[in-house]
Amino acid sequence: MKHDTITKATEAVSGTVHTNRHHDSAEKHVTGRAEYCDDIGEPQGTLHAYLGVSSVAHGLIKSMDLSAVLAAPGVIGVLTADDIPGVNDISPTGLKDEPVFPTEKTEFHGQPLFAVVAESRNAARRAAELAKVDYEVLPHALDPLEAQEVGHPFVTAPLKLERGEIEQGFSDADHRIKGQIKIGGQDHMYLEGQIAFAIPGEDDDVVVHCSTQHPSEAQHMVAHVLGVPSNAVTVNVRRMGGGFGGKESQMNLFAAVAAVAAKKWNCPVKIRPDRDQDMTATGKRHDFVVDYDVAIDDSGRIQAVDGVFAARCGYSADLSGPVTDRALFHADNAYFYPNVRLRSRPMKTNTVSNTAFRGFGGPQGVVAAERMIEEIAYALGKDPLEVRKANFYGEAGDGRTLTPYHQEVEDNILPRLISELEETADYQARRDAILAFNKASKVIKKGIALTPVKFGISFTATWYNQAGALIHIYNDGSIHLNHGGTEMGQGLNTKVAQVVADALQVDFERIKITKTTTEKVPNTSATAASSGTDLNGMAALDAAEQLKARLTDFAAEHWSVEPEAVIFRNNMVQVGQDVVSFSDLVRKAYMARVHLSAAGFYKTPKIHWDRAAGKGRPFYYYAYGASCSEVSIDTLTGEYRVERSDILHDVGRSLNPVLDKGQVEGAFIQGMGWLTTEELWWDKAGRLRTHAPSTYKIPLASDRPRVFNVNLADWSENRELTIKRSKAVGEPPFMLGVSVFEALSMAVASVADYRECPRIDAPATPERVLLAVERLKAGG
Ligand code: MTE
Ligand code: HPA
Ligand code: MOS
Repeated sequence: MKHDTITKATEAVSGTVHTNRHHDSAEKHVTGRAEYCDDIGEPQGTLHAYLGVSSVAHGLIKSMDLSAVLAAPGVIGVLTADDIPGVNDISPTGLKDEPVFPTEKTEFHGQPLFAVVAESRNAARRAAELAKVDYEVLPHALDPLEAQEVGHPFVTAPLKLERGEIEQGFSDADHRIKGQIKIGGQDHMYLEGQIAFAIPGEDDDVVVHCSTQHPSEAQHMVAHVLGVPSNAVTVNVRRMGGGFGGKESQMNLFAAVAAVAAKKWNCPVKIRPDRDQDMTATGKRHDFVVDYDVAIDDSGRIQAVDGVFAARCGYSADLSGPVTDRALFHADNAYFYPNVRLRSRPMKTNTVSNTAFRGFGGPQGVVAAERMIEEIAYALGKDPLEVRKANFYGEAGDGRTLTPYHQEVEDNILPRLISELEETADYQARRDAILAFNKASKVIKKGIALTPVKFGISFTATWYNQAGALIHIYNDGSIHLNHGGTEMGQGLNTKVAQVVADALQVDFERIKITKTTTEKVPNTSATAASSGTDLNGMAALDAAEQLKARLTDFAAEHWSVEPEAVIFRNNMVQVGQDVVSFSDLVRKAYMARVHLSAAGFYKTPKIHWDRAAGKGRPFYYYAYGASCSEVSIDTLTGEYRVERSDILHDVGRSLNPVLDKGQVEGAFIQGMGWLTTEELWWDKAGRLRTHAPSTYKIPLASDRPRVFNVNLADWSENRELTIKRSKAVGEPPFMLGVSVFEALSMAVASVADYRECPRIDAPATPERVLLAVERLKAGG
């Protein structure tokens, strides 16, 4: 074929960047053909493990009699700490504070103490109940306040962020407001629970299929527990049925138990807790108690902020260090604090060890910031939106761009974003109408709130910000794509394949998306901190460009043209005056012995963080967004519903607008659930009583806002050189749910004519809304 150029007559490639494309597994998800860990065919002789757990929150283990367990039908054996060939430790931080199974004492109710291995899962599960454990019960503390009172230690080093002259800021100010808010935790409630399936191999080898966001960590942990080098362990995951942070470290236990049992009995072993055990034995979002002290001038501008963030970390550190750090990094949300001091108190409690959850501590910081804004607005009798605007970060040169951790906010697009949302949501007119409605309506009251989000993108552990990819082009022209990220429903694989399709100018369908495996890309980071696409997209682009360069060099030589005359477009390659198909070029290159496989790598530039000094640039950039929600409450019952939510969210130049919108919608609903109906409740004995969907209420389809307008700020473009100028999307929109909480607060405040900022903790369950209404009606 001869052409001057590859003209428009040839079809543009499908599924390139900046285009809408459904999730690559969407049809498989809805038809049940997508393969999850539990769908993998079980080899003959597969055994099943189940965990036996403690029934006290804190106690010395005096004896553990497992004879009845062993005698139960179908039981093959038990695993205890004594069966661990390597190190009895799965702490992700190296603090060695988290055993697979404890030996001397149990530190929370429901802590796994041993595992039963049986011929069927049912047999193992029944037998696990038969253990007789004798404890010497010790006193326990369940929440951060109790823990502080009895002098519990921190589980990890606290952080302090400081800037300006805090004392001066307070003494010079016109007003000072002190308050406290309790912010609840959250269960991940992924559809697919934790699961690991280990298949032993020869020598030290073991392959573990595991539902995990962090295959490399599972690999290293299994090796550590088995006492073998990491090269003996392979961890695979094709996809998860949701992770939300709950599979960044919490899968370690399951992977370790399955692998130890598989090696001990030399049989494949699978472990899958039921929902109740999943909820009681694995960590959740951290609850926080935040004490704030804020100084303002008469106009409502913040002069100084002093905040103390105490968190329920559970019995061990897990990821509580970086989680509580991130809470402080987001305690400014979108606001400039001229003088500031923020301190974290990562409290040890006798509860399950809390962990990553979408936003990673950031949402708790944001809720505190927005509460301070509301306090100021009520104290001065202003519209909270006016106070928000008065306190936004400024622009370069105006002296209002420095965060409490000394990073400059360089691209604050919130003023534009907020004013657009204010327009499209018709905020001012609706607020006026609601104020009038509330005057006239006796039982039903309404509220409206428009809240911003600014979220820092990058792992605060700087070394985590790296990624690898591996691309093979087979000699028929088909492409095999692999990278270090994991798919949990967020669409990472789709986006990364779009990047490769764009780089090589081939159809999306030509690219095979493959499972994540520690065999192909080593030393990967967790797919977390919303950076999956930023990191792995760049690594895949690096690999694709290497291959393209090799193919270009080959074509230039073969057809005797300059490399500049080789152009990839629309599944074709133009070489000078000739045009060949991509597949033909690949075949010719193969025959000429061109290497058609490449490993790509990426590390985020510009970032650095000095934790001891509390200074640096922990984030490569910020993602922004805002939401406006209207609610109505029934002041006799506390019940409420969300009437309307409008969202405008910034994803830079979107790689895939429909996928990004899906992320924004899902995150908003999940954030709303956290702040409204999802309540975790432990009884005095430390037993989690909200341990299944029967008692733990996630939002239903019918709880979505009656009117739900979700838009991306399509004019935004990342000023940093991220993958195709896009921005991360996974976590930032979670905090858009805060507008629902603050709208509920306004509806409550109406019963006392907005004289007072309601005392309302999160989640604002109907019971809490009712109590807050009654308190205000009774005069505070
Ligand atoms: N979306 C779906 N459908 N399922 C999930 O488990 N996890 C969230 C978010 N979106 C999650 C999700 C969390 S906590 C993070 S950090 C990001 O996805 C991780 O993926 P990414 O970095 O590829 O965005
Ligand atoms: N976010 C999410 N997960 C993490 C982080 C973070 O900043 N650091 C370590 N794991
Ligand atoms: Mo997300 S909490 O960083 O897995």
